[in-house]
Amino acid sequence: MHYLFGVDYYPEHWPKERWATDAKMMREMGVTIVRMAEFSWSKWEPREGEFHFEDLDEVIEILEREGIDCILGTPTAAPPKWMIDRNPEIQPMDAEGRRYFFGGRHHDCQSNPVYREHIRRFVTAFARHYAQNPHVVGWQVDNELGNSHGNLCYCPSCEKRFRQWLKQKYQTIEWLNQCWGTAFWSQGYTSFDQITAPKMTTSGHNPSQQLDWKRFCSDLVLEFHQFQADILRQAAPGKFITHNLMGFSDKLDYHRLGEQLDFASHDQYPGGHFHARHDVYRADFHAAELDLVRSVKKKPFWIMEQQSGITGWEILGRTPRPGQLGLWAMQCVAHGADTILFFRWRSCLMGTEQYWHGILPHNGEPGRYYREIKAFMDQAGPWMEEMQGAMPPKEAAILFSYEQDYAFAIQPHHPDLRYTQHLMTYYGALHRKHIPTDFVRENDDWSGYKVLIAPLQFLMTPELSAKLHAYVAGGGRLVLDFRCGVKDAHNLAISTDTLPCLVHDLCGIRVTEYDCLRDAVGEVVWNGEAYESYLWNDIIELDTATMLAAYGKEFYQGSPAITYNAYGQGKTYYVGTQMSPALADRMIEEVTAGIAPLADTPWGVEVTQREKNGKRYLFVLNHTGTEQPISLPASWQPMDGKDVSALPPYAAKVYRRA
Ligand code: GAL
Ligand code: ZN
Repeated sequence: MHYLFGVDYYPEHWPKERWATDAKMMREMGVTIVRMAEFSWSKWEPREGEFHFEDLDEVIEILEREGIDCILGTPTAAPPKWMIDRNPEIQPMDAEGRRYFFGGRHHDCQSNPVYREHIRRFVTAFARHYAQNPHVVGWQVDNELGNSHGNLCYCPSCEKRFRQWLKQKYQTIEWLNQCWGTAFWSQGYTSFDQITAPKMTTSGHNPSQQLDWKRFCSDLVLEFHQFQADILRQAAPGKFITHNLMGFSDKLDYHRLGEQLDFASHDQYPGGHFHARHDVYRADFHAAELDLVRSVKKKPFWIMEQQSGITGWEILGRTPRPGQLGLWAMQCVAHGADTILFFRWRSCLMGTEQYWHGILPHNGEPGRYYREIKAFMDQAGPWMEEMQGAMPPKEAAILFSYEQDYAFAIQPHHPDLRYTQHLMTYYGALHRKHIPTDFVRENDDWSGYKVLIAPLQFLMTPELSAKLHAYVAGGGRLVLDFRCGVKDAHNLAISTDTLPCLVHDLCGIRVTEYDCLRDAVGEVVWNGEAYESYLWNDIIELDTATMLAAYGKEFYQGSPAITYNAYGQGKTYYVGTQMSPALADRMIEEVTAGIAPLADTPWGVEVTQREKNGKRYLFVLNHTGTEQPISLPASWQPMDGKDVSALPPYAAKVYRRA
C-alpha cells in the first residue's frame, strides 16, 4: 500500500466537533494519510501512568471512515510538566552550564536515564495500544532529531556517557592523550574520570576533543532513535519507521540514521525558517537538500512536512507567489519524493506557530493555498502513481561527510568557510548545467559515477586515500580541492607527507604554502579570462599535473590555481581556492565533458530526470517570476498532453519518454 498525499494534523488543537469536518475535507482534497501525535505527551499521559488514548482513538476512527490512515509520532520532543517537576535534571544544559527550562520544546536531555525510563514506559504503552490497529501504518520517532540541539546537552549525564564512549574508543588514557594532543596547554589526563564535555572555556578548545564530542553527540542521538525504534518494532511489528530529516542539518549522521529507517522522510520549507535564520529561497540549495535525503537510503523518500503557506514564528516570511506552493511540491517529486504530506492542515490559533501557515487559514475556510495545493495534487497524483520508485540516472556524485563538516565547524580557518555552503559551489554549477547529482559517503561504492567531487577532504586516512586512488585508477574523474589531506582522523596535523597529504601523487602536485584571503578577493585566470575566487588560495607546485588556470594576483600570480593529473585510466582535478559561480561553471564544464546535460533551459529553470523500467520522466521547473521559453526534443511527451513553448512564472511541466 502506498500513499501519495497527506497532511500533518494536530487534532488536540481543535474542538472535537471539528474533527469529522476536517477528515471529510481532507478526503475531498485527496489526502489518504496524516501524521499526528508527535507533540502531545501531556494529553496522552496527563499524570504519570495514567494513559488516555481515547481522543486519539476517536480521531483515528473518524479519519479511517474517510479512508485516511495515519503515522504516529512518539512525543519525546516535549516531555510533560509533571515529569520535569519531579526530575528537573531531564532539562538539558548548555556549554555554559545553564539549564533550558520548560515552556518550549526539545527540553530534554537524550541521555538522562530517568527520562529514558519514562520513554520506555510511554512508548511501550503507546505502541501496544496501536499494535493491532491496521490504520496506524507507521511511526516517526520524536521529531526532527537534532533540531534545537545545537548547544545541547552538556549535563552530567551526557558527560558520563561521553566518558564511557571515550573509554570504549581509546581503551587507555595514554592513547587518548596522544590522539588528543594533550601535551598542548597542559591538558594531560591521568584518568577517564577527569574528562568533561567541551564546556565554556576562556580560550579555544582542544580540536581533537571537540571532534570526538561532535561524533559522540551524533552517536547519542542515533542511539536515542534506536532505543525507541527497538521498542516500536518489538511492541508493534509490521509497521514502518521513518524520520523527518532536515536536509543539511548536521547534528547527527543521517546516513547512519538511514540504516534504522524503512525509508527516509524530509521537511521542506523553501520559504525559510523565520524563527531563527533568514534564508532566502534558493532553488539549488533546496534541490541539494532533496538529493541528500534521497541519498540516505538510495531510494525515493517521503516529504513529511511540505510548506503549505507563509512560514514564520515571531517573524514572518514572504507569502508564496501564485504557483510556488505547487512548484515547490513538484520540485520534491522531481528529486525523488513518492509521497508528500503538507504541514500543516490548518493554521494554528495558539502557541509559537500561530503564523506558520497551513493549507487552511485560521478560519478553516479553503483559500488560495488550498486551491493551489489541491490543483497540484489533482494534476501530479496520477503521474506520481506512475513513477513510484523511479530514480535519477547516475552521473555525478558529491562526497558528503559529517566528519569533514564537523572538523570545519571546529576550525573553519576563514570565518566565512562553511562546509555545506562550499559544497554548493559545485552543486550549484552541476544544477545550472542540469547534471543529475547524488551525494555519496565514504564507504559507498562510487564506481557507477563518471565524476566524483570530493571537496574539503580535511581529514585524510589511508583507507580514504586508497579508495580515492582506486576510483581514479579505474577511470573516474575526481575533483579535490584546498585543505585536503591536512589532518588525520584525530584532527591532528599530518606530518609524514606533503600537502595534499596521502593524495599528492594522485593530484600530481605539492601545496607548498597557502594564503587565507581574510581581506581580499582572489583572482583566477583561465584561458585569458579572469574570475573571482574566495577565502583561500593554495600555492601549488606541479609534479606530474598540468595547469588549467593560474592565480591572477598576489606574489604567486601566474602559479597554478587549478590543475589536473592523469592517473591510471582517470583524472584528478585539484582546485586551490573557492571558485566564484562563473569559475565553477567553467570548471564543471571541463570535468563533465561527455556527460550530456538533461536539457538546455534559461537561467532559473531547473531540469531533473527520474527513470523506471525503461521509462524516463523529465521535470522542467520555472523558479523565476517571469515566463520562460522551453524547447525540448519532440521525443519528450508532455504528461498533461499539452505542447507549450513557454512556461508561466513558477510553473512546472513534466514529460515522459519511453
Ligand atoms: C518543523 C517542525 C514542525 C514545526 C514546523 C514549523 O521544523 O518539524 O514541528 O515546528 O517546523 O515551525
Ligand atoms: Zn544531557
